[in-house]
Amino acid sequence: MKKRTALGITLFGLAVHSQAVFAAEELNVVCSAEQSWCDLMVAGFEEQTGVEVAMVRKSTGEALAQVRAESKNPKIDVWWGGTGDPHLIAASEGLTQASGVDTTDLLGWSVNLSNISDGKTVGIYAGALGLAYNSELLSEKNMKAPACWKDLVDVQYAGEIQVANPNSSGTAYTELATFVQLFGEDEAFSLLADIGKNVNQYTKSGSAPSKAAGRGETAISIGFMHDMVKLASSGFPLVIVAPCEGTGYEVGAVSIIDKAKNLESAKKWVQYSLDPATQSRSVEVGAYQVPSNSKSTVAPESPDLATIKLIDYDFATYGSTDTRERLLSRWDADVKNAPKN
Ligand code: G6P
Repeated sequence: MKKRTALGITLFGLAVHSQAVFAAEELNVVCSAEQSWCDLMVAGFEEQTGVEVAMVRKSTGEALAQVRAESKNPKIDVWWGGTGDPHLIAASEGLTQASGVDTTDLLGWSVNLSNISDGKTVGIYAGALGLAYNSELLSEKNMKAPACWKDLVDVQYAGEIQVANPNSSGTAYTELATFVQLFGEDEAFSLLADIGKNVNQYTKSGSAPSKAAGRGETAISIGFMHDMVKLASSGFPLVIVAPCEGTGYEVGAVSIIDKAKNLESAKKWVQYSLDPATQSRSVEVGAYQVPSNSKSTVAPESPDLATIKLIDYDFATYGSTDTRERLLSRWDADVKNAPKN
């Protein structure tokens, strides 16, 4: 009897020990890119590393809000995708930590984010902002095709333009920051308020307006050109426009959350997401951003940033808390709540 008890205890001890050794590593990810790409990233990472991933999709501004709210006891380990400005803001507020990743093969715009943030965030992709219109709806309603940002104030587009809300959407914040850099702050806000008279809805997510334009629920959308390319190449009647005044762009980013509970897995994720083999898989889900690793394959469908009139987007300024808070408050007052006529 005594012997059996002793054996039982030993076996129990062994079982506990082996569970500790073989327990699957875990990782909690908030993903601010398109859902299909988030899913592909999770599947590929789990397969390669054996780490179990729990992932939620949130627009970039919402992800920043969650990271801020959980700063004392974070539930997220890594934040992947979404526009770079909120990632830079999180870095400057001490909400993320340096990943120590090797940036040798990364393109300049990617390393720029790392330099601004002391390595707390790094660029994973880039994409330019633009317009799209539904060609069938436009000709049905006898509307002219827009070519410039300023064309969007025309009364012929009343109720026909859709764009996201910059409080929740990184895409729409990129638009707001782009207008300020292109036209100066006062003119930017009066232009946005005038365009606002034609806006039928400010959506939560940045890609929603182009999906709605594709389906013919709105004639015109503002968003990232690569999202529009995905829709157009799946057969939606969207025509993509690079606005005549020039346009801004995003650098999508990845950051490890400060006090992340699964730090080693988070570092593996960052490495995985910068790997050319991983980045080259984005075409499988129609994600046509330009990848940040110089050794990754760029899809032929990706809008060629060299041929688009791009502004020299100031990430340090527009990725700072003060600038973002000030611009968002003014947007709420001057644009969101502006009278429609
Ligand atoms: C889409 C784009 C991404 C972008 C993201 C921002 O998913 O494909 O390139 O980073 O939107 O999302 P948000 O909802 O914050 O505008």
